[in-house]
Amino acid sequence: MKRAFTLLIFLSFLLFLVPSIHAQSNLSTEAKINKLLAQMTLVEKLGQLQQLDGDYQGNARPEQFDLARIGLLGSTLNVRGAKYTNDLQRAALESRLKIPILFGFDVIHGYRTLFPIPLGMTASWDAAMVENSSSIAAAEARSVGLHWTFAPMVDIARDPRWGRIMEGAGEDAFLGSIMAVAQVRGFQGTDLKRQDKIMACAKHFAAYGAAEGGRDYNTVDMSERTLRGVYLVPFKAAKEAGIGSFMTAFDDLNGLPSTANPFLLRQILRGEWKFDGLVVSDYTSVKELIAHGVAADEKEAAMLALNAGTDIEMVSRTYGQNGVELVKSGKVLIKTIDGAVRNVLRAKFRLGLFEKPFVDENLEKTTLKKPEFMQAARDAAVKSFVLLKNEHETLPISKNVKNIAVIGALADDKANTLDWWAGDAKAEDSVTILEGIKQKVGGRTKIRYEKGCELLCDSDKDFDKAVDAARDADFTIIVVGETRDISGEAASRSNIDLPGKQLDLIKAIHAKGKPYAVVLKNGRPLTINWLAENSPAILETWHSGTMGGPAVADVLFGDANPSGKLPITFPRSVGQIPIYYAAMPTGRPLETENRYTSKYLDTPNTPLYPFGFGLSYTTFKLSNLRLSSQNIPKTGKIRFNVDIENTGSRDGTEVVQLYIHDLVASVSRPVKELKGLHRVLLKAGKKQTIEISLDAKDLGFYNAANQYVVEPGKFDVMVGTNSTDGLRDSFSIIGN
Ligand code: NOJ
Repeated sequence: MKRAFTLLIFLSFLLFLVPSIHAQSNLSTEAKINKLLAQMTLVEKLGQLQQLDGDYQGNARPEQFDLARIGLLGSTLNVRGAKYTNDLQRAALESRLKIPILFGFDVIHGYRTLFPIPLGMTASWDAAMVENSSSIAAAEARSVGLHWTFAPMVDIARDPRWGRIMEGAGEDAFLGSIMAVAQVRGFQGTDLKRQDKIMACAKHFAAYGAAEGGRDYNTVDMSERTLRGVYLVPFKAAKEAGIGSFMTAFDDLNGLPSTANPFLLRQILRGEWKFDGLVVSDYTSVKELIAHGVAADEKEAAMLALNAGTDIEMVSRTYGQNGVELVKSGKVLIKTIDGAVRNVLRAKFRLGLFEKPFVDENLEKTTLKKPEFMQAARDAAVKSFVLLKNEHETLPISKNVKNIAVIGALADDKANTLDWWAGDAKAEDSVTILEGIKQKVGGRTKIRYEKGCELLCDSDKDFDKAVDAARDADFTIIVVGETRDISGEAASRSNIDLPGKQLDLIKAIHAKGKPYAVVLKNGRPLTINWLAENSPAILETWHSGTMGGPAVADVLFGDANPSGKLPITFPRSVGQIPIYYAAMPTGRPLETENRYTSKYLDTPNTPLYPFGFGLSYTTFKLSNLRLSSQNIPKTGKIRFNVDIENTGSRDGTEVVQLYIHDLVASVSRPVKELKGLHRVLLKAGKKQTIEISLDAKDLGFYNAANQYVVEPGKFDVMVGTNSTDGLRDSFSIIGN
């Protein structure tokens, strides 16, 4: 008995020395967190709130090993690769409490196998495809020891001058929510412990995409109604899909920087939405509270961010350096620190890091760039392309054509197959458009490639060679657009024309009067009025990832039929911005003959290409719109049936879109709002009935008191294949 007692004392002592929380599997996660917290010093707690940046190659810096060994490094960004993450993890597990490190990285649209940019992926309007691509990205990322991606970026963006428009789902809250949920599901799955899943992060909370003038990092001033009714909608959808983390934004929202904004973080995110995941700042955004002019020094910056609810500080070190003093002086309560640490530890438990802190170093070799991943990237790229114009069936190009000219530096530039947020993709893995075309046509067709000008296209000295090539060819493919470095973060443009002399190059070729098509490769809507008016065919291919080249060839030569639809309005000029389809009505709607109505004197109100627009090599006809009822109660549902027929001679996919307009409400409602969609593949000549249903509760809005309400009244409905026209009917929500 005595021996047993001594053994028990000895065992408890061991447990104290090596607190293997995970061994006590009978405890709930919250109990495990409590136990750990009870053993942590304040300095160790602050260590869990510190995130530091690895070096360019993916290794941790020497200082980070030292911090990890004493338990003062909770997470990293950019440290990646199975060996590098395991090395640093080993150091963390030498620390007193052996709390594993959380490894984060920007896996935005692929890790090693690069998918199209998120704006392009959204143009597919295909949530299943987006989910699958995020799932592939997660498998690759976890295999190199990563646990956490700083994606999806769910910022609504209605200003194409903003470079980061490429990183999100475009202008619409409904489509943005569908894409947000798809990415959360793909990245996270249902069990974060799986070795092919990673935690996702909804960013940038909030309204970062509404930066004034489209200038990155700029201020945002917005009504609470627009914030809640538009900009927060995809964030809420991500939360409801179970996302594990949120990132604050660089901007200030109505004067209060997001990183120090208790209204966003405490009232909405934690209070109203009951989010129990973790919140990370953006890169040095805690320290930047000083430049924002709300904190006098780093101590105050730390105080504001902690009290507002920013759990982890990315890269700046104000928490670690001031946290102890802030707690001592009572400016930050220990309860607040504990709450933040709790959120970090909860994420680590959810990811299974205490049980399995290391990654199997063989996994990355068998996971990265699997052939099926490459194929998925190619399929995704095909689905992301939007056919903007195709006069007289210029496209697809016949495979029997004898001579082809390919023009444009972007057609064969490996480095530019990668773009902003290219993860760990390697240019040498990518196939360029020229290579894709060569693979496609084989030896049958002669191909002459001429750049015409270098990437920046600042000289026309080689235009002649390109024009000669086009003159001698039966068909010319001109690839133009934006290089990777003028799209993405800190890449705002005040002019969104084709950069350099690219338009002049197209005009010179156009003047020869031979058939050609323009392939656009860009990260944002461009002002391409001349092309829209004069060029016979325009294919928008975005920045399309590792397999973009073969995908472009698939579409150009008719092995695939384009089906993408614009997730963002293309303006005619920068002066029209902001221009988006879900605009508010005005008291003086446009009447061309009436001066005193809302319009410009020098340009139409309409965009160059509207939201939801995209052509196909076949044609579709919608008919026979039926509503299940003309009147639905507030708790009811309404079904819309419509017939769709493929009236052309090729199989093809159409995206049927359903828009509503709430005619009279207590506050003005947008002239149109997307509320449903259905992607349908139809064989040539076939007809099918499709159904879209809506819940009345989803037809509400935030009223003058910023309360979500569903008001009775009449709604117009439009079912079409873009946001400008379609079949129309109306219905009412009834009741009080
Ligand atoms: C700054 C960006 O705004 C954010 O989106 C990104 O996740 C971090 N840098 C980390 O790279």
